Amino acid sequence: MSNKAAVLTVDGPGGAGKGTISRLVADRLGWQLLDSGALYRLTALAARRHDVALDDEPALARLTIGLDVVFLAEEDTTRVLLEDEDVSREIRTEQAGDAASQIASLPSVRQALLQRQRDFRRPPGLVADGRDMGTVVFPDAELKVFLTASPEERARRRYLQLQDAGVDASLSSLLKEIQARDARDMQRSVAPLVPADDAIELDTTSLSIPEVVERLTEWLAERGLTR
Ligand code: DC
Repeated sequence: MSNKAAVLTVDGPGGAGKGTISRLVADRLGWQLLDSGALYRLTALAARRHDVALDDEPALARLTIGLDVVFLAEEDTTRVLLEDEDVSREIRTEQAGDAASQIASLPSVRQALLQRQRDFRRPPGLVADGRDMGTVVFPDAELKVFLTASPEERARRRYLQLQDAGVDASLSSLLKEIQARDARDMQRSVAPLVPADDAIELDTTSLSIPEVVERLTEWLAERGLTR
């Protein structure tokens, strides 16, 4: 093992359960958590607030480098501040996710976020949730997991999450959005959504959240990464 803190990467398409699972595993182990999707969502939101077009790559790269964000870990959740304002809810909308997916295809935006993501690697360990955690950001991670679920199941999960949050949504339009976002995330030329060669793929379609958490914790223990 390297002398750096251990990393568990959790990659996969939207709605596969990465966010929930990563948080639960990080909480259980007392590890740091990186929600890299939030960084892309925050960048997109900052662009809207500063009137930067989502295809103006040089301006977006400058904006990304200077991004003023703070993650405040609280019990069960993380509060996210953009330029001192709490945007935890605003970055979770489908619109923010869609804009995030658009800017995520720009190489200089990804490059500008790279070191910021690596800085989350601190003892005793890090759970990194995203699309390219195992392939690009932490290629030397000690354990790489790629979570999937059928598009229909992912749409259903998003729908229930939104309902819980009191947000109106339609299942069929969520399914269409998920399929469009999958296509964009998988087909982009830079850091496309693909499992790392050494990732373990886990289909969560018929697994419960505690079952997935258990599986990941076991894999970490088998590798001697937990106390
Ligand atoms: O995981 P999420 O839904 O919050 O991510 C929002 C968008 O950001 C997603 O469509 C793709 C992009 N993203 C990415 O390209 N690379 C990451 N490591 C995380 C997210």
